[in-house]
Amino acid sequence: MTAQLIDGNALSRQLRTEVAQRAAALKTRGTTPGLAVVLVGDNPASQVYVRNKVKACEDSGLHSVLEKYDADMSEAALLARVEALNNDPAIHGILVQLPLPAHIDAQKVIEAISPAKDVDGFHIASAGALMTGMPGFWPCTPYGCMKMLESIGYDLRGKHAVVIGRSNIVGKPMALMLLQKDATVTICHSRTADLKAQTLQADVIVAAVGKRNVLTADMVKPGAVVLDVGMNRNDEGKLCGDVDFEGVKSVAGWITPVPGGVGPMTITMLLVNTLEAAERAAGA
Ligand code: GUN
Repeated sequence: MTAQLIDGNALSRQLRTEVAQRAAALKTRGTTPGLAVVLVGDNPASQVYVRNKVKACEDSGLHSVLEKYDADMSEAALLARVEALNNDPAIHGILVQLPLPAHIDAQKVIEAISPAKDVDGFHIASAGALMTGMPGFWPCTPYGCMKMLESIGYDLRGKHAVVIGRSNIVGKPMALMLLQKDATVTICHSRTADLKAQTLQADVIVAAVGKRNVLTADMVKPGAVVLDVGMNRNDEGKLCGDVDFEGVKSVAGWITPVPGGVGPMTITMLLVNTLEAAERAAGA
């Protein structure tokens, strides 16, 4: 058996077309959705990410502002910028790119963002809303994974989902989203005693560790859905995920490739959240 691919590029195109249409409709009512992206320092990966986010906004008719600051910017100065953006009516979403330089307390900066503009979904108010099923913004990467499952018509009710990784950005929110759709959820991590014993039970596996070959073919139940959140480089310098794609695709029922899987969905869900923030602000 060869797994069917869940194409993140194709699904992103479809969702971004919908975003563009809704943004255009909102514009005719006097509101252009606006995203502010704040980058402190010159981390090369972050520079690529923020450029892609700003470009995606432009392509979908969203207004975006990129604010770049030197690595020695003070925490107080950054907090003051966040406060100014909180009060800027042209800005509906605020994203402070992580990681921040070590002298800045990232959590403090995240908590300074107005929850109404927290399109990354990293604020504790957003995390609390997700946990309790209240309206709020969901972190973009796990949200994108949920959209991918929805796109193949996958019904999570009563299914066993195994999430590998327990980060605040992916693993933990992913588990809560799967739980909200009535899956039975197991969270595995670096201290899990027997990862293979867990993944072999899974109908759905989300790999979000940041390490190559965390999931291999012998660890997957035939027909399982495998979502690969990883972004790594192999020995040849080629982009690869956490999953041994070549091996696992012969066992799984569905699988996301890297690149072209979860990655584009993360930016797409940022656009969706920004649009949603603007619609809420406009009372739409
Ligand atoms: N750094 C890596 N991924 C992300 C993300 O999704 N949001 C922010 N703010 N920083 C990141």
